[in-house]
Amino acid sequence: MTKIKTVDHLVSIKSYNGVKPLEVIAEELNIPVTKIIKLDGNENPYDPLPEVLAALSSLKNISNYPDMMCSNLIQDLAKKENLDANNFIISAGSDELIELLIKAYANPSDTVLSVSPTFGMISFLAQVHGIKHVAVSQQLVKKESFAHYVLDENQFFDVAKQSKIVFIARPNNPDGYVVSEKFIERLVALPVLVIIDEAYIEFSDSQSLAKWIPQYDNLVILRTFSKAYGLGGLRVGYGIMPNDIRNILVSIKQPYNVNIAGQKAAFAALSSPLVDQRIVKMKKTREWFINQLKLLQDQYKTFWIHPSEACYVLLTFESPEVPKNLYEHLYSKGILVRYYSSSDMINNLRISIGLQENMVKVIEELKLFLKGGI
Ligand SMILES: Cc1ncc(COP(=O)(O)O)c(C=O)c1O
Repeated sequence: MTKIKTVDHLVSIKSYNGVKPLEVIAEELNIPVTKIIKLDGNENPYDPLPEVLAALSSLKNISNYPDMMCSNLIQDLAKKENLDANNFIISAGSDELIELLIKAYANPSDTVLSVSPTFGMISFLAQVHGIKHVAVSQQLVKKESFAHYVLDENQFFDVAKQSKIVFIARPNNPDGYVVSEKFIERLVALPVLVIIDEAYIEFSDSQSLAKWIPQYDNLVILRTFSKAYGLGGLRVGYGIMPNDIRNILVSIKQPYNVNIAGQKAAFAALSSPLVDQRIVKMKKTREWFINQLKLLQDQYKTFWIHPSEACYVLLTFESPEVPKNLYEHLYSKGILVRYYSSSDMINNLRISIGLQENMVKVIEELKLFLKGGI
């Protein structure tokens, strides 16, 4: 028998560490699915939007292939953003666009640049396509109750000059920090493709950079329906970019990349007044949660809080044992938070912002944990 070898750059590839399905966790914990508080995937905690449920239940023709251009959705998005429809492309989650951009713009000798830590998909997809990924490490700085990742912008800028694609999540995942517009202005002045991932921009007080699109040939904005619109399970994202980049991506994408349910649901979600109301509530809950964490930090001094402009809060601990034990304690109570096993993130836990009543439970458990020194 002859084992067929994979291409060389895939020999040591590890599959992406995604979130476990709720049903699997409920079975492991022997509790009903409805008792699980899921705060590990930065997902929207609310029930589906009524407009989305209505659109999905009125789906009739699912035997025909979907509109490969998602024209209705694009028209609505273009109107909302006050930009030309030719600047938009819809995708199966914004992850798909990261992959298409790497396919279209990175030659095997090129480099993709990001900061570290950031959203894992960029290094994963660069590896899948055999493209070198360089990450400029940010320095962790602690000040009073808070921790911040600080980027040496000049160092990043120097590496950007040698790169083909520069990726910045704004707000960043995992910490929720928003890089300044000034710094992005410096980057887009370089002859590199600058991808600004705005997956969480709706939760931020900072402005989107979509309005810059008509001024630049090398700027791409990524957005998603997975977070503020609560459609993570339907996989719909979109990109806003110069028309020539959009045309290249259209020409290499799978023709029917976004299914009918996703297209209809996203279109319906755009018209829902509940989206903005829920964002306001989540931002209030985030503020409440950070204030509660601060009180605990003042008392116990065992962790530091990253101020966040997104729908999650990162906590940094002094050593890896405490976050591991806290993760296990919360897990045993059916509260799922994001634990990191990689050496650079092992001192951290990331907690998504859920419903207010569930964040109260997190704080209660955290108090018990810290008091008991579990
Ligand atoms: C920064 C960032 N971008 C993109 C995504 C994924 O978006 P989508 O569901 O549209 O693929 C995530 C998901 O966690 C993320 O954190």
